[in-house]
Amino acid sequence: MGKRKVAIIGAGHTGATLAFMLAEKTLADVVLLDKPENEKPARGKALDISESGPIFNFNNKIKGTSDYQDITGSDIVVITAGVARKPGMSRDDLIQINESVMAQVTEGIKTYAPDSTIIVLTNPVDAMTYAVYKLSGFPKNRVLGQSGILDTARYRTFIAEALDVARTDVSGLVLGGHGDTMVPLLSTTTVGGVPITELLEQDKIDAIVDRTRKGGAEIVGLLGNGSAYYAPAAAIFEMAAAILKDERRVLPAITYLEGEYGFNDICLGVPTLIGENGVEQVIETKLSDDEKAQLKASADAVEEVKSALKYS
Ligand code: APR
Repeated sequence: MGKRKVAIIGAGHTGATLAFMLAEKTLADVVLLDKPENEKPARGKALDISESGPIFNFNNKIKGTSDYQDITGSDIVVITAGVARKPGMSRDDLIQINESVMAQVTEGIKTYAPDSTIIVLTNPVDAMTYAVYKLSGFPKNRVLGQSGILDTARYRTFIAEALDVARTDVSGLVLGGHGDTMVPLLSTTTVGGVPITELLEQDKIDAIVDRTRKGGAEIVGLLGNGSAYYAPAAAIFEMAAAILKDERRVLPAITYLEGEYGFNDICLGVPTLIGENGVEQVIETKLSDDEKAQLKASADAVEEVKSALKYS
């Protein structure tokens, strides 16, 4: 395996945190790209990360830029560029503003990194992944969105806290759209292989599911200014590593569906097999009637957001 390169579009909180993780774990050289007016902070963050290399023992190159030419040869392009919803901005306004950012960014990727795999994080992420898929014309396996790893990580954290056990021993799966309508599959949740239903009462599980659904808002409320970025960056790191190292991980990802789970022409979070070609396969698991109904409601919510898209 030759040297790997990851471009991150949007050198904000998540972009810079991810750049540090990729460098520190020596996974890839990194390009951190932002708008021309933010080129200097992007360069500053890249230089600052580089200067931690002698201490943390990594030699990966990290470059801050606003020039799309610098993303040439990237194996993966991560999109964290966008704006957050501000007071007075409607949800549809936000969707259209971020969709126009996706259009701009996708143009740069098509021109300079046409063979890359794209991972989208910008919210509303299911609709933005759909926009990037449509605007890029890339094959569906090379356009992924991140939400399920983060939602599952939050869910695992809360379960571990409730039981006072290691977070890493909790496993489970969260499907559907990112946000209030996500669908945690209780049947798949285990702690060291023991079903969660044998360890926690139903009302405690329900409270954890509810907290998971509102996990993003909980962090927004605490930070006061901005949204979560450590766990989101870690989630993208896991996807990028799976692709760059062809790990064939079974991870939830937002991907374009053509009939899987009964949905068509929508990007939605489902279990996938991730390897060097991006989404190698969508994994279909049997759902209970209740889970099916929840997933349908989640897909309907994503469709509604999608209907506000203008260009895709
Ligand atoms: N091209 C390049 N960069 C852009 C563009 C653009 N057209 N528009 C905005 N950006 C940059 C901003 O300048 C900023 O540096 O995207 C960056 C976004 O960073 P933050 O505001 O710090 O946002 P962050 O917390 O990293 O979240 C990024 O991920 O989790 C989601 O909802 C979140 O959509 C948001 C995204």
